[in-house]
Amino acid sequence: MAAPCFDSDYARIYDLIYAGKGYGREVEICISKAGLADSGGHILDYGCGTGNHASVWLDRGFRVTGLDINDSMLDIARKKELGPQAEFLHSSKIDQLESQSLDAVCMLFDVLSYLPSSEAVQELMDHFHRLLKPDGRFIFDFWYEPAVLHLKPEVRTAHFQDEFTRVRRTATPTHFSNEKSIVVNYEIIVSSDERELKFEETHRMRYFSQAEVADFLNTSGFKCVKFFTWEEPEREPNQEDWSIVCFARKDERP
Ligand SMILES: C[S@@+](CC[C@H](N)C(=O)[O-])C[C@H]1O[C@@H](n2cnc3c(N)ncnc32)[C@H](O)[C@@H]1O
Repeated sequence: MAAPCFDSDYARIYDLIYAGKGYGREVEICISKAGLADSGGHILDYGCGTGNHASVWLDRGFRVTGLDINDSMLDIARKKELGPQAEFLHSSKIDQLESQSLDAVCMLFDVLSYLPSSEAVQELMDHFHRLLKPDGRFIFDFWYEPAVLHLKPEVRTAHFQDEFTRVRRTATPTHFSNEKSIVVNYEIIVSSDERELKFEETHRMRYFSQAEVADFLNTSGFKCVKFFTWEEPEREPNQEDWSIVCFARKDERP
C-alpha cells in the first residue's frame, strides 16, 4: 500500500518541487483582496506545509500561526527558524487557539481539497469562524468542479532539480465521480550523485462547485465575497481554471 501523503520522503523534496510557486504573489493578492492592513495582524495559515506562505506573511509584518496535520511538513517549517512571530503546531491544537483572536485565516494550495469529508470541511469552517475577529477574513483555494470535469485528469510526469538533487514525479489519477474526488498516485524517484530513492504516495483530492463552497461558508456564518484565480484575480473563474480562490468574510449578522 502507498504511504500516507506528505510523508517524510515527500516532505524533504517539497520545497524543491515547489521552488517556482508564487508564494510571495499569493500573499500580496490575499492582502489586497482581503483589504488587510499593511502589517501587524495575526494570520492563521491552515495546512501551512513547510511554512512558505508564513515566511512571506512574516516579511510583511504579520504574526503567523501555522497548523498542519503532518509532522514531517511542520518539522521543515520549524527548522526554517522564522522567528518569534511564527509558530507551527499540529492541527489537532486548533481547539486551543483563542476565540476571536485572528485577523485572517488562509488555507492555501488546495488544502480544502485534501479534507476527507464534507463533515470535516464544515467542522473546520466552524473553527475558523470562532477564531476570527468580528470582521475577520478567510481566503482559500480548491479544485474547481467545472474545470476538473472539462479538462479531465491525466497522467503527467514532471521533473525538478536543484544543484544536488533530481526528482521525477509521475502522477496517475483515477476519477471517482460518485465521490467527486480524484485519487492521484504519485511515483517519485529522487536521485543524487550518491543514491536513488523510489517511493509512492496517494493523494485523494475532492473537487467542489462554487455553490457547494458558498453553502459550507454560509452554514458556518461566513459571507462569500468573491471567487477568482491567482493568475488573473480580476476575472471570474471558468472551466479552464483547475484551482480557484475564494475570499469570504465573517458574516456579522446576529
Ligand atoms: C499542497 S500542501 C500545501 C502546503 C502549503 N499551504 C503550501 O502552500 O505550500 C497541502 C498541505 O495540507 C496539509 N493537510 C492535508 N490535510 C490536512 C488536514 N486535514 N488538516 C491540516 N492540514 C492538512 C498537508 O499536510 C500539506 O502540508
